[in-house]
Amino acid sequence: MSSNSDNWQELLRHYEATVNLSLHKRFDADPERAKKFGFECGDLWIDIAKQKVDAETIDLLFALAEESGVNDFFHSMSSGNIVNLSENQPALHTFLRRPLSHENNKELRSVSENINETFNRMSELEEKIKNKQLFGFSGKPINSVVNLGIGGSHLGPFMAFEALRDYANPEIEMRWSSGLDTADLDDALQGLDPESTIIIICSKTFNTSETISVASRALNWLSSGGVSNTVSQVFAATSSPKNALSFGVLQENIFPFSESIGGRFSLASPVALGLMISIGSKSFKEMLNGMDVIDQHVLEVPRNIPMLLGLIDVWNNSIFGINSLAIVPYSYRLRYLPAHLQQLMMESLGKSVSTEGEPLKIKSGVAVLGASGTDAQHSFFQMLHQGTEAIPVDLIGFAHLSDETSQELIANLIAQAETLAFGQDVDEIGNPLLPHKILSGDKPSTVILAPSLSPSILGQLVALYEHRTVSAAVTLGINPFDQWGVEFGKQSAIEIANELATPEIVSNRDSSTKALMARYRHWRDATP
Ligand code: F6P
Repeated sequence: MSSNSDNWQELLRHYEATVNLSLHKRFDADPERAKKFGFECGDLWIDIAKQKVDAETIDLLFALAEESGVNDFFHSMSSGNIVNLSENQPALHTFLRRPLSHENNKELRSVSENINETFNRMSELEEKIKNKQLFGFSGKPINSVVNLGIGGSHLGPFMAFEALRDYANPEIEMRWSSGLDTADLDDALQGLDPESTIIIICSKTFNTSETISVASRALNWLSSGGVSNTVSQVFAATSSPKNALSFGVLQENIFPFSESIGGRFSLASPVALGLMISIGSKSFKEMLNGMDVIDQHVLEVPRNIPMLLGLIDVWNNSIFGINSLAIVPYSYRLRYLPAHLQQLMMESLGKSVSTEGEPLKIKSGVAVLGASGTDAQHSFFQMLHQGTEAIPVDLIGFAHLSDETSQELIANLIAQAETLAFGQDVDEIGNPLLPHKILSGDKPSTVILAPSLSPSILGQLVALYEHRTVSAAVTLGINPFDQWGVEFGKQSAIEIANELATPEIVSNRDSSTKALMARYRHWRDATP
């Protein structure tokens, strides 16, 4: 998309013409608004009526998507073509959840057959552990799993594990560790028996320093716990099997996946082996099927719902100039969804050059924040209601979570959407506090409702946000699948760690960095 295109200029004109049209006025002008802007998508109900859009806005946004080739992009991606241009790779995450029977293309069939074979191996491991047929070196049946990984090798599977705890096998203790801080792994290992525990190392590259460091400590824990043949209790999910073999993982314990599956898009990949062991391959397959429902919707419906949500993100961010997005699931079990979507949306859209390497002339990407429902209301909702800048919020709710509180949670969700949109007049004329108490309203929100938080619906939600993010990126003309910005920081950290460990090195870094390093050394070397 070019910011000089007719569609873009038409959209800017439309913005100027409608920016001051409040939600109040938009609803007053069209009694059918709620009906026109509510949509089914799989088992999800998506309500965008409280976004600052109208029918013309949506038409102009879809025209922009058409000009940007968003539909063609999804079909090309789904055909295994190279769509990640800066890394010269396809993006194969939708192949992970596509039933083998759907694959007619001979070349692509081999991709799907490899995926299917790995899933069958994962399922066999899950079955063995469930049936107490997998034994540690001393003959104890395995009943505990410690999952190691960071970023996309942690956030998605961990979020899904917590979301689907009601489907977890109570006889298997699942633990998760992602960070470099030893306290993270210590807590994960707390109370476990090394002789009945397996370690799953999830790392696409198998050279992420944090994960390798944590994995080494986890293996030390196994051996210091009496496990002499540690490798028999170590598994790996990676697109770099050679690196896993070099680390010492046995070939038969490696679950490979394509390097063309991005970390933040890898929930359906072998990095979710721990999740599958916990909830079972049947529930895991239901999650994949839910993802595939949305994948097929995107391919079959040109003006599809994930694209519409991505276009509204472009409208709010790149045209309205809003810099944040709040994700608020009214579900305790879904409380880690915002963290997963933070990586998905910010690592995909946080770019400043186009796919051709040209500096972007428009804003791209927002800061994603979030927390679970009523907790968020007692945390950052003040700013949502009375801040100087509107922060669009996704309010996600479920009809059946628990008999006691589902209705109250949904009532809170609906009340917040209403108050954000229409505000609250305060008829206390003469009250000096009046200015402080008025809620202006006109704050945009999208409501996403579903019958329950099942594996299928979780899969639909995740795929909805994946395709929403990709749609926004392609409309903006950026690559959603690379992340060059995080590579340099890793290298710099290795150099600074080396300088901190080697006092004779004279650092040529900036004065602030050197001052911070000196401050750390002062405390490090002071006698406690
Ligand atoms: O943050 C950079 C990143 O490469 C993410 O994209 C990725 O999910 C994470 O690091 C972990 O990478 P790996 O799975 O290779 O350990």
